[in-house]
Amino acid sequence: MQLQDILFSQGFGTRRVCAGLVQQGHVAVDGKTIDDPTEELEATGLQFVVQGTPWEYHEKAYLMLHKPAGYECSQKPSTYPSIYTLLPAPIRQRGGGAAAGVQAVGRLDQDTTGLLLLSDDGKFIHRMSSPKHHVPKVYEVRAKHPVDDKQVQKLLSGVVLDDDPKPVKAAACEKTGDNTLSLTLTEGKYHQVKRMIAAVGNRVEEVAGLHRSRIGDLQLPGDLKPGGWRWLTAQDLLDIAGKKA
Ligand code: URA
Repeated sequence: MQLQDILFSQGFGTRRVCAGLVQQGHVAVDGKTIDDPTEELEATGLQFVVQGTPWEYHEKAYLMLHKPAGYECSQKPSTYPSIYTLLPAPIRQRGGGAAAGVQAVGRLDQDTTGLLLLSDDGKFIHRMSSPKHHVPKVYEVRAKHPVDDKQVQKLLSGVVLDDDPKPVKAAACEKTGDNTLSLTLTEGKYHQVKRMIAAVGNRVEEVAGLHRSRIGDLQLPGDLKPGGWRWLTAQDLLDIAGKKA
């Protein structure tokens, strides 16, 4: 693949901008600057440096973000900054065109923190968001009032939310402290955790009340700080869905 096409596919701008980056000596491979935009390179596994920043070629993008509080998961947020501002510009622009860049797999509320996946692979996003696939998601909840066994039992046996007569159940629910519990859900209804906790007569704390710690078998890594992101590894993808994306 030509170097200019590699850069274009990875979100570094129009073909013309990408050719310009190369001609102006801003792109290096294996420590050597390449100034011919048409130079043919093997894209798979390619490591390259653009204006001093190291990159790796990814045919499709699969990322995890440690979503901080105070960010909206929308591309066009209404009140708070968008989570997309936490990602480097090329990742936001991959592919070009109207549907450019990566998209979040589902959404977390502005005040919710934790593990969020992003991708530009439409099939992966669809599969992960589809209620049919029942990928378990684990939420750490801090409640306003003490959590009792009755509340835990109700969350496990099913509670009715206002928009649906069919009760929703937690796949697992464990009290982890006086006011805290760990809740596993396999669906993703609007404000589901907050509404389930309200339905059992308690309330999610407004500040640091809700954190998503796991999706499938993929745990949010302890060393990924709020606001930080990283590429998913092949093992991460296996952990999420039990099979390769
Ligand atoms: N449930 C909620 O209520 N909020 C979230 O952000 C995620 C799950």
